[in-house]
Amino acid sequence: MRGYGLTGRLKGKVSVIAGGSSGIGRAIALEYAKEGARVVIGDIREEPSEGGLPTENEIRRINGRALFVRADVSKEESVKELARSAVREYGGIDVLVNSAGIPMKKSLAETTAEDFDTMHGVTVRGAFLAAKHCMPYLLKSGNPKIINIASNFSFTALPGMSAYASAKAAVIGLTKSLALEFGQQGVNVNAICPGATKTEMSRPFWGTDEGLDLLRARTPLRKGERFIAYPDDVAKLAVFLASEDSDMITGESILIDSGWNVP
Ligand SMILES: NC(=O)c1ccc[n+]([C@@H]2O[C@H](COP(=O)([O-])OP(=O)(O)OC[C@H]3O[C@@H](n4cnc5c(N)ncnc54)[C@H](O)[C@@H]3O)[C@@H](O)[C@H]2O)c1
Repeated sequence: MRGYGLTGRLKGKVSVIAGGSSGIGRAIALEYAKEGARVVIGDIREEPSEGGLPTENEIRRINGRALFVRADVSKEESVKELARSAVREYGGIDVLVNSAGIPMKKSLAETTAEDFDTMHGVTVRGAFLAAKHCMPYLLKSGNPKIINIASNFSFTALPGMSAYASAKAAVIGLTKSLALEFGQQGVNVNAICPGATKTEMSRPFWGTDEGLDLLRARTPLRKGERFIAYPDDVAKLAVFLASEDSDMITGESILIDSGWNVP
């Protein structure tokens, strides 16, 4: 693993990571810090759901700079305060990552209107609000980037995913529209669309025999025994999309799903 500051691809960049306490967002926060970014974690809970030190403490342990802000992305005042806290602490915002998310697999009959609103509130409204309230600061950055964590279920679905898949599809629409609206001002807006990735959220998939069988049957790629991504795999793509290496990429939705969507 690369050491902090060794390559410094994100040196000094202020990165707001919504949903950065656990899973994919946490891996992105840690990888960004190793690349020299100053990281602001906005999340409803501080402790990682998979265990271990809170992300900001882990970053400080490797001599990085990080701040935790308790924030609910579905609530506008909370998101405004997240953006303001980043600016108060570090003077601006260069990168926004929207990784906050909740799982939901329920039949149409079981999915209440409230479930649907909650899912869309965190996933779509959350990414919209974070973009809206970070944008004034991003526009002052030398190289602003927004990275939305969507899903392979933005493009495909399984039974029982009406709320989740519709919300994740909407994130792609948001990504494309923002890429067009802010392209002239130099803001790159892209989405990462992970397939099954080993986090607590997706444990019902990879942590059960039934789930593993489905994943094995649907996944074309094998890397030795491995066919499910780790959060680190997604984090490396997120580093690329936050760095100047991706300056000419915008409005894209990049799958990282071991080929699930190919057939
Ligand atoms: N794990 C997978 O297989 C997978 C696959 C495709 C897409 N995704 C997406 O990746 C993103 C991260 O998922 P993960 O697997 O790391 O899950 P996770 O549960 O490990 O992390 C999600 C984080 O979001 C936070 N969060 C939830 N609601 C919030 C809110 N209202 N405001 C602020 N923070 C909130 C949680 O506290 C948690 O820290 C999600 O958007 C998820 O839909 C995950």
